[in-house]
Amino acid sequence: MPVSRWLVDAIEPQPGHRVLELAAGPGDTGFLAAELIAPGGTLICSDFSETMLEVARGRASELGIANVEFTPLNAEWIDLPAASQDSVLCRWGYMLVTDPAAALRETRRVLRPGGRVALAAWADPAENPWAWRANGVAFEQGLIEDERLSAGMFAWSAPGLIEDALADAGFTDPRVEQVAFENRYPTFAAYWDSSRELATAFSTLVDGLSERSRDALQDGFRAALAPYTQDDGGYVIPAKTHVATAEA
Ligand SMILES: C[S@@+](CC[C@H](N)C(=O)[O-])C[C@H]1O[C@@H](n2cnc3c(N)ncnc32)[C@H](O)[C@@H]1O
Repeated sequence: MPVSRWLVDAIEPQPGHRVLELAAGPGDTGFLAAELIAPGGTLICSDFSETMLEVARGRASELGIANVEFTPLNAEWIDLPAASQDSVLCRWGYMLVTDPAAALRETRRVLRPGGRVALAAWADPAENPWAWRANGVAFEQGLIEDERLSAGMFAWSAPGLIEDALADAGFTDPRVEQVAFENRYPTFAAYWDSSRELATAFSTLVDGLSERSRDALQDGFRAALAPYTQDDGGYVIPAKTHVATAEA
């Protein structure tokens, strides 16, 4: 929520605005903006996965959000007219796409001059032990080959990279900050299940393990996450993300 709030504040939504959310997943960030652009404004909630759009449709109907269209879009080739949007939101999406530079260029093309993009991308792995510590255990146990997961969620973690990517795509007036928050899990099982739900690569890995290897991996995770254990047996694990905004 603190990350979504930062992004939505950054685009300064006004009644009547057209807002596009890219790689929206369940859509929650855009839904915050949808309320602020009514009356007259429309949110386009998009993702290249139809399954994610189905999840987002369900969330919107639970929340009673009506001024939203659901559109399958690839962030690298946005099938919308030039200058058709007032702002674009993208939380934890750009660094995952195959060609992030193309996605940013496409974002700028669909924004009106002066429109704003707001994005989030995970900061340094060391600042995100909720994902990184566990990854290190899997690496130490020989279950994954690339400890840095460089093509994955931390691909935009290096300082200065986001400013450069925004400038290369033609954006001006960049502002990049960091938002720190905590991920809370009431039990180890909750942490394990959440990791499996978040990352297909991880659930695929676990599904392919023998019972013995899976037990060893869980023991390794428990040990790595011990510093974050609470008196009640739950876990409070730090997280940090870059958040950025710039003008088209
Ligand atoms: C880490 S999730 C983030 C979801 C959501 N923005 C959030 O913050 O909860 C990444 C999302 O990007 C989508 N995605 C990945 N590559 C994409 C692309 N090239 N175009 C559009 N969506 C993409 C995935 O389907 C997934 O829903």
